[in-house]
Amino acid sequence: MQSTDNNEEGKITLRPLSRGDLPRVVGWFNDPEVCEGLGRKPGLTLEEETRWFEEMIQDHSRLVFAVDNIEGVHVGNIALNRIGEDRAAMVSLAFGQEHWGRGYARDAMKGVLRYGKEKIGLVEVYATIYPFNERSVAFFEKMGFKKNEERKEEHEYGGRKWNLSVLSFDLSRL
Ligand SMILES: CC(C)(COP(=O)(O)OP(=O)(O)OC[C@H]1O[C@@H](n2cnc3c(N)ncnc32)[C@H](O)[C@@H]1OP(=O)(O)O)[C@@H](O)C(=O)NCCC(=O)NCCS
Repeated sequence: MQSTDNNEEGKITLRPLSRGDLPRVVGWFNDPEVCEGLGRKPGLTLEEETRWFEEMIQDHSRLVFAVDNIEGVHVGNIALNRIGEDRAAMVSLAFGQEHWGRGYARDAMKGVLRYGKEKIGLVEVYATIYPFNERSVAFFEKMGFKKNEERKEEHEYGGRKWNLSVLSFDLSRL
């Protein structure tokens, strides 16, 4: 994977996630609000994250980008997962809470959609999100994702089951 040249997206650069980034990512994934958005419990350890990383770098169906701001500070991650033969992939993203609300996620998403279309020939990018995550719902709608499907009670979190919304972005619109 190459770093992307983000002339258009200005505020950020995308580069491959590296081992040195992992302690910072573990910090984000132990923040209850970041975890709520992802529908997971806090408590990730560096050992678990390192195991995940070693598997991830061997897995050709996944690309995980670190997002750096113009000062070179690593502010979040964005990933294309399940890159498949149907030329679709699932996007997921998480940013350190101290970096929220500055447009980094928006610019990173634009960069990844463009990368998916131009560098790997995708035609569609989709996301699965939890309706209780209002920030994430607002974010994907603002980015132009359209709701395709509501999956009934697919996910257990906080002692109850939740529906899962599937939203997609048609890359022919770019
Ligand atoms: C979801 C997440 C990536 C959004 O990051 P962010 O830094 O707030 O996003 P941005 O600053 O780029 O905001 C982009 C747009 O989203 C919308 N938005 C963001 N926060 C919002 C809020 N609290 N209420 C309403 N809209 C909001 C805005 O419309 C914003 O557009 P604007 O800049 O024109 O106002 C971030 O909150 C996060 O990492 N959450 C934890 C993990 C997660 O939930 N991931 C998503 C599931 S895969």
